[in-house]
Amino acid sequence: MRVLAVESSCDETAVAVYEGGRGLLAHRVYTQTDLHEIWGGVVPELASRDHVRRLAPMIVATLADAKLRREDIDGVAYTAGPGLIGALLVGAGVATGLAYAWKVPVVGIHHLEGHLLAPMLEPTPPAFPYLALLVSGGHTMLVDVLGVGRYRVLGESLDDAAGEAFDKTAKLLGLPYPGGSRLAELAETGRPGVFQFPRPMLDRPGFDFSFSGLKTAALLALRGHENDPVARADLARGFEEAIVETLATKTRRALRATGRQILIVAGGVGANRRLRQRLAEVAQAEGARTSYPRAEFCTDNAAMIAYAGEARLALGERGGLPALARARWPLEELGPPAESAVHAPITTGRVPGRG
Ligand code: KG4
Ligand code: ZN
Repeated sequence: MRVLAVESSCDETAVAVYEGGRGLLAHRVYTQTDLHEIWGGVVPELASRDHVRRLAPMIVATLADAKLRREDIDGVAYTAGPGLIGALLVGAGVATGLAYAWKVPVVGIHHLEGHLLAPMLEPTPPAFPYLALLVSGGHTMLVDVLGVGRYRVLGESLDDAAGEAFDKTAKLLGLPYPGGSRLAELAETGRPGVFQFPRPMLDRPGFDFSFSGLKTAALLALRGHENDPVARADLARGFEEAIVETLATKTRRALRATGRQILIVAGGVGANRRLRQRLAEVAQAEGARTSYPRAEFCTDNAAMIAYAGEARLALGERGGLPALARARWPLEELGPPAESAVHAPITTGRVPGRG
């Protein structure tokens, strides 16, 4: 099937076309970072309004990139959650409206399923099963990926995501949003061990994470050093080490517990150089290899939603009305693509126009 997909769960507007058996035909991503930067974080209402502005022209442009007409599309997929409810509703409404007008089936996709399947877009995709470490601004998770729709969540953050912790501490250090990569740059010049931060949850069994305490520790450690460039760099280094060590240790545990030989790392924090280095060491010691989807498929995009959408639509899964939009959506509620499986019509917000 040739599937057009729309992603609008947070601050990226994205559109893609994927064809089963052939691969990705086109994809576009527009990031709203500039829009939110002055506010120091994503403003949900501004995000929704910008999706409204961008989506239709992006769909036209992506179809043109793929040299396709609307008649060539066999199905539509959209990110149904989790995410910002207003932003999700824009994509859900547009996608469902198009499917209705084009008389093709539509399906709502779990955003994290998209991330977990992103490596399948590569020319030599990994074989199932694999272990996935998802580290982004919104999520920190270790997931055993057994197949499409078959995910076992081993652990996740109980509070802040790793990227969120990076961004909040970067903000404390006066770095512009989103500060994760800037904090990492500052850490390059810092010395290890000068500032010791806690390694949250390492002393507990299991695979869960907790990063909110680190931000408080950073706030306290910074007191009196606000204008000292050497101390700020040392602090950034200590902070980065605490996060990297925590992620690496829990990932090692998960590799051991599952015996998986492939570790997929997805999400923006996966760009962190020190994290990559530590994960490579850990994987090698456990007899596994690490693999990263290319950068444009690591961060939010619609190609991964199109891939998941095609996998589900081709096996007969169908969404419908009302359009599905869920701010919260546990990954383990998903099942494999099923013949005529219909999404439970759970909406946390009503689709505009449906009363
Ligand atoms: O997956 P992603 O692009 O988007 C969302 O979560 O929406 O992840 C973005 C996150 C941000 O928190 C950003 O600060 C962080 O990834 N990030 C980094 C680095 N590059 C991006 N964190 C640490 N080190 C980096 N080099
Ligand atoms: Zn994402």
